[in-house]
Amino acid sequence: MTDLTDTVAIITGASSGIGEATAHRLAQEGASVALAARREDRLQSLRNDIEADGGSAIVCPTDVTDRQQVQALADVTLDAFGQIDVLVNNAGLMPLSLMENLHEDEWEQMVDVNVKGVLHAIGAVLPTMLEQERGHVINISSVAGRRTFPGSAVYSGTKFFVRALSERMRNELAPTHNIRVTSIEPGAVETELPNTITDQDILTMLEEGHDQMQMMQPEDIADTIQYALTAPEHVDVEELLVMPTEQEG
Ligand SMILES: NC(=O)c1ccc[n+]([C@@H]2O[C@H](COP(=O)([O-])OP(=O)(O)OC[C@H]3O[C@@H](n4cnc5c(N)ncnc54)[C@H](OP(=O)(O)O)[C@@H]3O)[C@@H](O)[C@H]2O)c1
Repeated sequence: MTDLTDTVAIITGASSGIGEATAHRLAQEGASVALAARREDRLQSLRNDIEADGGSAIVCPTDVTDRQQVQALADVTLDAFGQIDVLVNNAGLMPLSLMENLHEDEWEQMVDVNVKGVLHAIGAVLPTMLEQERGHVINISSVAGRRTFPGSAVYSGTKFFVRALSERMRNELAPTHNIRVTSIEPGAVETELPNTITDQDILTMLEEGHDQMQMMQPEDIADTIQYALTAPEHVDVEELLVMPTEQEG
C-alpha cells in the first residue's frame, strides 16, 4: 500500500493528540477514517474539520476497555466503508506513579486501556484483514516500551507488552497473510497525556525537572505513521523509535 487513496483506517484515541493528528493526516492523504474514543463532541468536531477539507470520516464513540463496543466499531466501519485496511491502535493512558504510593486503580486502568484495549481492537479487525489477505496494524508503544524511568513501572509494563505483541504479530501475520504490523515508539510528544497523572511525588518531580526541551508535536508522529503506511507493499517497517532531538534517555 503506497497510496492512502481507497484506504479505510480505524483510529482509536482519535479525540486528541497523536490520534487526532493522525486522523487529519490520513484523511488528507485520501483515506476514509473511523474515529474512535469516548469524547464524542471532540470526534464530531474532528469529523466536521475533515469533511470541510473534503475528506471522509465517521464518528464511533467507543470505550476500548469494552470488547463489545470495539467489535461494534469494526462492524460500523465495515458497514460504512466495506473494508478495513489500517488499524491505528493508539488509545492510551499514562498516570505515572511510584510503586510505593500504591495507585492500584490507575495500574488497573492502564492494563485495561493500554493492554486489553489494544487486544480488543486487534481482535475486532483481524478477521476482516485475514479475509482480505491484506492489512496494516500500527500499535503505538513508547520509548517507555524500551526503557523505564521513575514512575513508569506499570506504564512501561504496558508499553513493553505492546512492543512484544507487535514483534510476534508481525512474524505470524506478515509473511503468511500480508498483514503488516508496526510498533511506533515515541519519546515526549506535547499532548494531553500527562493530565492523568495524580501522584503528587511524580507531579513534583515533573515540576522540578521542567526545562525548555522542545517536545515533538502530534504531527511529527503522524508523519512517522504515514511513512510506515506508505512504504512499498513488500516493506514492513517493524518498529520506529522517534525521539525529540533534545531528549535524553
Ligand atoms: N505524548 C507522549 O509523549 C507519548 C509518548 C509515547 C507514546 N504515547 C502514546 O500515544 C498514544 C496517544 O496518546 P497522546 O499522547 O496522543 O495523548 P492524549 O492526547 O491524551 O490521547 C489519548 C487518547 O486515548 C483515548 N482514550 C483514553 N482512554 C480511552 C478509552 N477507555 N477508550 C477509548 N479511547 C480512550 C483518549 O480519548 P477519550 O478520552 O476521548 O476516550 C485520547 O483520544 C497513547 O497510547 C500514549 O501512550 C504518547
